[in-house]
Amino acid sequence: MGISYGLEGSLELMAVVSSLKFSSGGLELEQMLPEIITEIPGPKSRELALELRKYESHNVTYVAEDWPIFWERAEGSWVWDADGNRYIDMTSAFGVAGLGHTQPDLRNAMVEQSGKLMHAMGDVHPTQLKVEVCKRLSQMTFERWGLGTGKTLLANSGFEAVESALKTAYIATGKPGVIHFQNGYHGLGYGALLGGGFDKFRSPFDAQLADVRTVLQYPRTETDLEDLEDQLDMIKASEVGALIVEPVQGRGGKVVPPAGFLKQLRRWCDAHGVVLIFDEIYSGFNRSGRLFACEWEEVYPDVICVGKALSGGYPISACVGRAEIMDKWPVSPGEALHTSTFLGNPVGCAMAITALDKHADPAVARDVERQGDELMAMLREIESPLIKEVRGRGMMIGVELCHADGSPAGDVAGPMLGEMLKRGVVMLADGPDGNVLAFTPPFYVTLGELVYVVENVRELLGKY
Ligand SMILES: Cc1ncc(COP(=O)(O)O)c(C=O)c1O
Repeated sequence: MGISYGLEGSLELMAVVSSLKFSSGGLELEQMLPEIITEIPGPKSRELALELRKYESHNVTYVAEDWPIFWERAEGSWVWDADGNRYIDMTSAFGVAGLGHTQPDLRNAMVEQSGKLMHAMGDVHPTQLKVEVCKRLSQMTFERWGLGTGKTLLANSGFEAVESALKTAYIATGKPGVIHFQNGYHGLGYGALLGGGFDKFRSPFDAQLADVRTVLQYPRTETDLEDLEDQLDMIKASEVGALIVEPVQGRGGKVVPPAGFLKQLRRWCDAHGVVLIFDEIYSGFNRSGRLFACEWEEVYPDVICVGKALSGGYPISACVGRAEIMDKWPVSPGEALHTSTFLGNPVGCAMAITALDKHADPAVARDVERQGDELMAMLREIESPLIKEVRGRGMMIGVELCHADGSPAGDVAGPMLGEMLKRGVVMLADGPDGNVLAFTPPFYVTLGELVYVVENVRELLGKY
């Protein structure tokens, strides 16, 4: 890769100097740096946090001495807070802004559409935009995979798309059982929790959730695949209608399963009449370096769930399934069995159409793969006894931190997020123990921005 950093002095000073010089491929380059002009969080963010505490359920926003900052605007991979500080975003705001924050074409689509029609009657008198979104989703999934037409159920957030998929599987098979994987994250609605593998989110509500699930280990090695085969053999498939899985686990810690995993699931579901659901809410739309992460293995689901980057910044999600399965839903007699007020919202649809047209360009996947390879190589060059593994696909990368005794180092990753914020980088940590530093920036983050981030991670890890 040939990057040399040529940084001088303490990296802590870097956030107050304005640019970073580095060389790559024989070229001398200069990168604009974050601009931190107040303590972090700044006075305005602190004041807003106190006010929020008063009026929002205190379960929602985490407030601490070093957290949060209040976002005011964002552009590309940059975010400005209420105090005027400027940060590099390593999160794409939960994976939504793959094409960049406030991407001009998406913004124009939103502005234009909201001037014409902000809301219609999704399942009664809809818009042409809804037709266009459903058509594009079919073309980009099942038609592209040579599996005929894909039919869509639109929704607002990711968990709703998951719930639509689980309902679809039940309607299509009449079998209530759901198989899912440990540390799989499918959202937090009651229905989504039927197939959610994070115990901490499910167990407080166990008493209200039907016990229809089987939880399997998400495989990491070839041996795990053999164990999985044994576990699948023992399942009473006559009671299972759905198997839901992330082709790459996102919030579970950016875990890439061994090759052959998705094929194994496909085989088993085919043999037992189980609907295979891929949750690509995180990994979809080029995040993994393919349009959909399942394309790495060329294994395709019966139903796919998408959200997040579908619009790049508006709450819209979708469950898309093979026509034969989706057609098991009854034809609406005038009252849909599953719908919602904002389903097919025209502003969301206008943004989704623009986003989908961009994502359909194969150059995006190539760019993400190349950028991801660069970032992965830079992260793998960091030498630290705390790093257990650097893994991921495309721009979906995790750095797992563990102590010498093998215990997860969430106690290092957590404070590091606050430290990185002070250095002008917005980051999150994943995994059930919060010990996986997550790198999911907007796709067109620059090399210089990545150099800055990686150098700061390296320097901070050296302190622990
Ligand atoms: C794979 C996956 N599925 C589902 C969801 C839930 O989406 P939402 O938060 O929009 O309900 C998420 C959110 O992070 C996710 O990563």
